[in-house]
Amino acid sequence: EQIKKGSYDHFMQKEIHEQPHSLTTTMRGRLKDGGVLLGGLKEHLKTIRRSRRVVFIGCGTSYNAALAARTFVEELTGIPVTMEVASDLLDRQGPIYREDTAVFVSQSGETADTLLALDYALENGALCVGITNTVGSTLSRRTHCGIHINAGCEIGVASTKAYTSQIVVMAMLALAIGSDQISTQPRREAIISGLSSLPGHASEVLKLDSEMKELASSLIDSESLLVFGRGYNYATALEGALKVKEVALMHSEGMFAGEMKHGPLALVDENLPIIVIATRDACFSKQQSVIQQLLSRKGRLIIMCSKGDASAVSPNGSCRVIEVPQVADCLQPVINIIPLQLLAYHLTVLRGFDVDQPRNLAKSVTTQ
Ligand code: G6P
Repeated sequence: EQIKKGSYDHFMQKEIHEQPHSLTTTMRGRLKDGGVLLGGLKEHLKTIRRSRRVVFIGCGTSYNAALAARTFVEELTGIPVTMEVASDLLDRQGPIYREDTAVFVSQSGETADTLLALDYALENGALCVGITNTVGSTLSRRTHCGIHINAGCEIGVASTKAYTSQIVVMAMLALAIGSDQISTQPRREAIISGLSSLPGHASEVLKLDSEMKELASSLIDSESLLVFGRGYNYATALEGALKVKEVALMHSEGMFAGEMKHGPLALVDENLPIIVIATRDACFSKQQSVIQQLLSRKGRLIIMCSKGDASAVSPNGSCRVIEVPQVADCLQPVINIIPLQLLAYHLTVLRGFDVDQPRNLAKSVTTQ
């Protein structure tokens, strides 16, 4: 086992640091001549383009990855996207139609709830697409077509490198579906060049490791941690909070920053740590005003911003700031989650919990 971990203490740590490589293998051979080539979808792209709706279905981190992709899939394809937590779709027996493309996202390809939701979507006649890290998995066998994320084997129970590769695969999926649209061509080209630069930016953001360790040591005794995001990075808030609760066993919630004044604001005081994701995108000025409102309630803020923006988000320097490299807005979630993965990892080690086998959790939940 130690050989497989190499110089790392834990699989989760190794898998976080592997991301520049796993992102590269996810894209290998798929970005060609200014376009995207997804062999597994070739024969179905036309049907997907004609679908009335895309339904993303998954559990846990895989659901969050799909949520991170939702906005750019809608933007690049013009097809409405709805989100389904697999178990909730089954509980509601929610509507799935023949004109739907149902996209199932699962690292293992063996999660029981996701597979049952797949059976349900197949029965209802939807075109079913699988996005998985596991060649030969039940998901990849039972779907009509799909894309492997090729992130390499993930062993740590808390999913890290699979999350970032899943988002990248969904970006490529959106680019492929939208590739017949002339009006979005410049945007597609910018995203493709953003994709190529992601491994380099992932290496750069990993240099925050010791800063995240230091931040973790300041949070070690906190009872709770809130994470506020919006737009592209609402999913980052959910996934960052999920990492913290899964492995560091600390209560943590990811929230819509836009919902802050409708409840969460009541929790704000000098003690509760709050991470605000405020990297540059169309929502930046709204996040600046959220920060002002939190500061006027004496909130204890940790702000994630784009490199060079520290004084724009924390004018009097009173907040702790995490500066990350800026990438194409829709790909920013791939970069922004990495410091939060590092934070969750270090919090877990410092709090003395098992990183790779968190209490009560399993890598793949194969029962309902
Ligand atoms: C379990 C794991 C999570 C994972 C979820 C979905 O709960 O602990 O890390 O995100 O299952 O797994 P899947 O293999 O379907 O992505």
